[in-house]
Amino acid sequence: MQLRLFSGLILFIFVLTHLLNHMAGLHSVAWMNDGLVAFELVWRSLPGTVLLYGSLLVHLVLAVVTLWRRDNLTMNWRDGLQIGLGLLVPLLVAGHVAGTRLAWEFYDTVSSYDLVLLYNWITNPVAGIQLAVLVVAVWLHGVMGLRHWLRLKPWFREASPWLFAASILVPVLGLLGFVQGGRAVEAFATDPDWTLQLYTRANLLETRNDVVAMVNAAQPAVLTALSVVLVLIALGRPLRTALARKRLPVRISYPHGHHVDIQRGVSVLEASRRGRIPHASVCGGRGRCSTCRIRVGTGLNALQPPHSDESRVLERIKAPDDVRLACMLRPTADITVTPLLAPTGSGDRVLSSHLPRGGEEREIAVLFADLRGFTSLSEEQLPYDTVFVLNRYFAAMGAAIEEAGGHVDKFIGDGVMAIFGLQGDFELAKQQSLVSAANMARALDRLNESLADDLPQPLRMGIGIHAGAAVVGEMGYGSTLGMTAVGDVVNTASRLEASTKEFGAQLVVSEAVLGNTKAEDPCSERHEISIRGRRGMLAVRAYAAATDVIRQTATG
Ligand code: FES
Repeated sequence: MQLRLFSGLILFIFVLTHLLNHMAGLHSVAWMNDGLVAFELVWRSLPGTVLLYGSLLVHLVLAVVTLWRRDNLTMNWRDGLQIGLGLLVPLLVAGHVAGTRLAWEFYDTVSSYDLVLLYNWITNPVAGIQLAVLVVAVWLHGVMGLRHWLRLKPWFREASPWLFAASILVPVLGLLGFVQGGRAVEAFATDPDWTLQLYTRANLLETRNDVVAMVNAAQPAVLTALSVVLVLIALGRPLRTALARKRLPVRISYPHGHHVDIQRGVSVLEASRRGRIPHASVCGGRGRCSTCRIRVGTGLNALQPPHSDESRVLERIKAPDDVRLACMLRPTADITVTPLLAPTGSGDRVLSSHLPRGGEEREIAVLFADLRGFTSLSEEQLPYDTVFVLNRYFAAMGAAIEEAGGHVDKFIGDGVMAIFGLQGDFELAKQQSLVSAANMARALDRLNESLADDLPQPLRMGIGIHAGAAVVGEMGYGSTLGMTAVGDVVNTASRLEASTKEFGAQLVVSEAVLGNTKAEDPCSERHEISIRGRRGMLAVRAYAAATDVIRQTATG
């Protein structure tokens, strides 16, 4: 996995520097040639050559191995497109490599942009079109790979507009530079002396026919090699399956008496899919998340030890010896397994609906909730696992809020804001917000139970609720447009949520929400707090357990 990433990064840097060199054509061919000197200094040096061609070889071999090892060739369109583009690249680049690098190695030619542009723009424009397609294919392939790697980095969301702009600008400007250079060379080539001098400088006067023959032979040779590999994979896979079927199948037994029989070499995750047994796999079986992890019961000793990619993930989550990754484990003997994470967490956002349009003042209740200590927890986990836990938390909290009749306004980091009273009944809104707080506390308990083996400590949260008048309406811009509320009530609810830390409470709720019914509430402590920007003190009640607020309402 790391090798594929590293080799991909080297190839991406090579393509990027090449396109930057093309961009110089927007100024002049002379600038392109100046850039080429630096480009060749790096990539034609011994370390540059080893790095570049080593990465190319490793990347190609790993792609073929991945295709061979896949349990099936069904894949989503993104993976299919990325693999297809990757296979197209060697085919399209073959002639160009033969005419530049190989000609330099075997015929001692001297490369220059004049020469490459003359060939691809004038002598053989079809080759020029292929190069343009190559630029798009190789760039798209690289950008897709980079995006998949970076998308869960904390800074990615903020940087993505810039990265997106760069991902469009670089190839477009590179191609425009190439076109501009081609037009300049077209003008130079009207002078026969210029062409003669160019061939002389390039050391091509006597070797030109040989080099052209090599260029013409390169693409068919790569096409043949690629076809042979793909045909071998296409024929070999069914053969492998047929041979595997002849061997005794392996039985994977799951809880509740389910079992799936598979051939050796098939992963446990694939077994779950074949048996339609729900199984979490946030990264899609790429060994990058650990959400597919299973506890192995019987048959543990007969398993191969985890290889390096699996070990790295298991070490990172400090998994005990009987825990393995289902997407990586290919059992050779019968085993019993228990998937450790419920398959309800996905990469999808939990969305809310029923948004009223237009801004207006309403009396509403606002609830803020925030996870305690989640930052340190996320530092100990893989990003995918953090997403998994967060999505399960959001799903649980979203359901608890909506069950009580509230509207999930937004999720902010590991926090959530909810609004009650959009339908206009203020008393009902306040009651719903309290019910929601209790629901959320119970939902968190259930979530902690189901994640007990996977979290270093249970999740904790603080909830703040306040009620009053606020302006409710659609706000934002473009794709961020959405319904929300603004006003003192929102800021105050947020401040009350923060005050749960000071009071060591799970819930802090203003007496504006509780009304008179809580005057003698023995389950809570009464405090008066100041809120920045607000005159006077605010009377609040702090509850150690949010469920007490409802218990007391029911009895009081
Ligand atoms: S599915 Fe992500 S590690 Fe297995």
